[in-house]
Amino acid sequence: MNSQHSDVDNCIPRRYTVTSALPYANGPVHIGHLAGVYVPADIYVRYLRSKGREVMFIGGSDEHGVPITIKARKQNTTPQAIVDRYHALIKESFEKFGISFDIYSRTSSPMHRKTASDFFRTLYDKGCFIEKTSMQYYDEENKQFLADRYITGTCSKCNSEGAYGDQCEKCGSSLSPDELIDPKSAISGNAPVKKETRHWYLPLDRYEDFLREWILKGHKADWRTNVYGQCKSWIDQGLQPRAVTRDLDWGVPLPLPGTEGKVLYVWFDAPIGYISATKELRPDDWEKYWKDKETKLVHFIGKDNIVFHCIIFPCMLKAEGSYILPDNVPANEFLNLEGDKISTSRNWAVWLHEYLEDFPGKQDVLRYVLTANAPESKDNDFTWKDFQSRNNNELLAVFGNFVNRTVVLTHKYFEGRVPAAGRLTEADEAVLQEMCAYPARIAGSIEQYRFREALNELMNLARLGNKYLTDNEPWKVFKTDPERVKTVLDVSLQIAAHLAVLCEPFLPFTAVKSRRILNMSESGWDKAEERFLLPEGHVLNPAEFLFEKIEDEDIERQMDKLRAAKESNAKAAAVDYEPQKNPVNFDEFGKIDLRVAKIIAAEKVAKTKKLLKLTLDTGFDTRTVVSGIAEYHAPEAIVGKKVCLLANLEPKNLKGIESHGMILMSENPDGRLCFVEPAPDAEPGMQIR
Ligand code: MF3
Ligand code: ZN
Repeated sequence: MNSQHSDVDNCIPRRYTVTSALPYANGPVHIGHLAGVYVPADIYVRYLRSKGREVMFIGGSDEHGVPITIKARKQNTTPQAIVDRYHALIKESFEKFGISFDIYSRTSSPMHRKTASDFFRTLYDKGCFIEKTSMQYYDEENKQFLADRYITGTCSKCNSEGAYGDQCEKCGSSLSPDELIDPKSAISGNAPVKKETRHWYLPLDRYEDFLREWILKGHKADWRTNVYGQCKSWIDQGLQPRAVTRDLDWGVPLPLPGTEGKVLYVWFDAPIGYISATKELRPDDWEKYWKDKETKLVHFIGKDNIVFHCIIFPCMLKAEGSYILPDNVPANEFLNLEGDKISTSRNWAVWLHEYLEDFPGKQDVLRYVLTANAPESKDNDFTWKDFQSRNNNELLAVFGNFVNRTVVLTHKYFEGRVPAAGRLTEADEAVLQEMCAYPARIAGSIEQYRFREALNELMNLARLGNKYLTDNEPWKVFKTDPERVKTVLDVSLQIAAHLAVLCEPFLPFTAVKSRRILNMSESGWDKAEERFLLPEGHVLNPAEFLFEKIEDEDIERQMDKLRAAKESNAKAAAVDYEPQKNPVNFDEFGKIDLRVAKIIAAEKVAKTKKLLKLTLDTGFDTRTVVSGIAEYHAPEAIVGKKVCLLANLEPKNLKGIESHGMILMSENPDGRLCFVEPAPDAEPGMQIR
């Protein structure tokens, strides 16, 4: 059976369109972006190409939006100058890092303007929008309507200051300008006035049935629980019409007469950027990537982009009518840095362009660490110590060492020629068999978007090789039994060759080097299911080191950078502590039953400001807990979270709902409540004591 045939039998799509979130061109990219979006997307795409699939991998700059105009104003320059600078920087660093986009485009391009504008016009002509006139905040001094990040104030949900007109970054709630307490213009600091303006809205409420059918029924099994949970929470809370236009002078102008000074909302135009980029690259046959049912569309994004890619953009595509919908949206959680949230404004980040300068030639080390520790199902932490030890103890000690020993010994004993295997022992046979199972195993993980698991399997193959070599000690055996050494090195070389093929999606630079050392031409994924990739007599090139040791000094230099950032941010916050309560004895403490539990659903309790009704999985039951945290946590942001639960608190009726327990929270000086989070690997039902 040829491979084409078996693909069809297994319902493997003919073609893939893979998109990665378009980063805002108002700053460089950092490891959070890489771990969340670009590294997993690149692994997926490289794997698909190695499988011989047709792939379109889209990237580009998101060049509209208020943060860009605000930055331009602050720096006394134009938005175009800002995006030109960062687009070039980001594009170049992605290239050097080996992110293999088919095109890296930008949303200020003429093609994008036309595509986005036509898309709006099509929906407009089909009557998909509602037109509404309303009163909106306005800065009289600067003659500017204040939507999104042009307006700041106190969050009405969590009371923290500095919330934006579209979102509070503290509690994660989506906001509208009217939900800000004490609103101020972000340009002038002035209190705004209200002024009438006309806008176009996409009535998401009309798509509820479609979304329920498509996501809640259709993707329950295959979308990540956190993605699915967020979508469900949005849909269950009731969708509202969303404005898709703004009063701004930076963006895609509205293609309607009499609408000067109005542009498309950035989240309306940006995802259309994926389509514009495809058109730019393939003007004649772009449609097959977007309209053919045999194409599988996958969006790689961070978790803050879920609603836009799973709800709003699909509704736009559905409204237009001729497009396919995403098959999956493997959104990642966030990556922290040394225990702290990555932050551009606090300069708490590892910037890609700086990494490439500080660690030349070490792209794969960062790719490896970010994948091994990818925030696939929960937030994760990047530390420089972990970076160092994963390089030294895993990449170098296992992978690099194995390939190097194998090649050096082949040169030493057999003039660099692949020896012929003699009789295979049972152990040899078992190792070869195991080796041949890896391509399918790694593929299975990748196709389910489990990249950490896939990478771990790749390393298991390297471990298998390393152990085989160590167990068989060819350097000792050679004196007494050189024939046996031929077999051992042949088997080892075959494993090294398999590693060279299978590491390509994860470690593309290492793959090139390994192939050079082994003198291999490119070879597809499926070929690696065969045993012998290197024929007898095949001549190797000289050995080279695949990885180098990372020294303490290298790590110290990076830590110094971070310490400097911390210091310049440090403000000693004086905190008044509550006095300690009276002692309890062991017996009293022993009566308290604390457990790990997981939030599986959350909704606001009607007619209350503070209460959320939570559904918890405790491992041994599913129960309802009413919790007074609604001012600080949006329901959709906490689904999937693991919490500490006081499980045996007597039931209590709150607003007609029976609550069975209490969730532990820490209280900040400003009254904000934060989750006390169990250890990352804790499971529901585990005791806390
Ligand atoms: N610029 C957005 C962000 O960084 C992502 C845009 S994704 C797109 O969060 F689909 F809109 F392009
Ligand atoms: Zn808030």
